[in-house]
Amino acid sequence: MSSTLLDVRNLRVTATRHGSSFDIVDDVSFSVAQGEVLGLVGESGSGKSVTCRSLMRLLPGANLALTGGEILFDGRDFAKLSDRAIRAERGASIGMIFQNPASHLDPVMSIGDQVAEAIRTHRGVSSREAWAQAVDLLRQVGIPDPERRARGYAHEFSGGMRQRAMIAAALACDPKLLIADEPTTALDVTVQAQILRLLLDLRDRRGLAIILVTHDLGVVAQTCDSIAVMYGGRIVETGPKRAVLKAPCHPYTARLIACQPNHAVGGRLLPSIPGQPPVAGQMPPGCRFHPRCDLAVDECRAARPPLLQRAPDHLAACPVMAGVA
Ligand SMILES: Nc1ncnc2c1ncn2[C@@H]1O[C@H](COP(=O)(O)OP(=O)(O)OP(=O)(O)O)[C@@H](O)[C@H]1O
Ligand SMILES: [Mg+2]
Repeated sequence: MSSTLLDVRNLRVTATRHGSSFDIVDDVSFSVAQGEVLGLVGESGSGKSVTCRSLMRLLPGANLALTGGEILFDGRDFAKLSDRAIRAERGASIGMIFQNPASHLDPVMSIGDQVAEAIRTHRGVSSREAWAQAVDLLRQVGIPDPERRARGYAHEFSGGMRQRAMIAAALACDPKLLIADEPTTALDVTVQAQILRLLLDLRDRRGLAIILVTHDLGVVAQTCDSIAVMYGGRIVETGPKRAVLKAPCHPYTARLIACQPNHAVGGRLLPSIPGQPPVAGQMPPGCRFHPRCDLAVDECRAARPPLLQRAPDHLAACPVMAGVA
């Protein structure tokens, strides 16, 4: 794999509520190389979206703040840029697509105009040139008859076509990294497969790096090069996809894998992880997974387990399972 594009170190996002403050992203570190697809997985509420948004300093609430860490992108620290400077990087360095494209597309502006506007803002080309480039991008993301479809509106597009339009808008300024936050969850399986195929094509053609947020380890298995597993605002395991899926070194990862549909035999009900994920602001001490973990020992309750190296590039924050795999 080629050189590191994004290096996130000790990222911290703090929420303030009713006068108290707590971390919802706690000391998160990971990196993404050019052309790499990183899968960010974890149960609902584990902090995947907040982590992704913090990379562009687009936190989803006024009570949230980036309170620590570095976001090194191509050698510059996005955590330290001025508001004005980071605005220029959105779209140009990092593009983002969301789970529900309908709520991120403007209903009263044609699809072509929305993509063209993104191009014009960042590239300073004429309207005519921006429109031509927008049509070309819509073609590249697989929208049929793009000259005509560009004049259409979001409500005239199917879910899959809307997601393609979102991808075109996110790519308008030729970013090096695309953050895709559950881009296919709302789509049926066939369309989901087409969108994932498209993302991989874009990676191959443009050398695009991708952070793919998903609940679905099947998607990770098909699409990603590496995985970062989040639990309670922390990364508990990270490594090459094959290594993590084949020989997980954290009990939470092992449980997630056991809960995937392809492990269900003969249509039996899937096992789910007993207990509830922890709630932001009320995190248990030590390893945040310990109340749900069969392997937990006193050490796990007492202090946060450090990420231990299990193999080259494979880290896991479990002192117990570390001896097993
Ligand atoms: N503005 C806010 N104030 C306080 N807590 C917040 C705020 N926004 C998000 N959170 C909390 O931060 C945690 C992480 O949220 P986030 O949306 O990143 O989870 P997620 O992993 O993306 O979940 P999902 O899979 O459901 O999308 C959650 O516990 C959430 O309740
Ligand atoms: Mg989310």
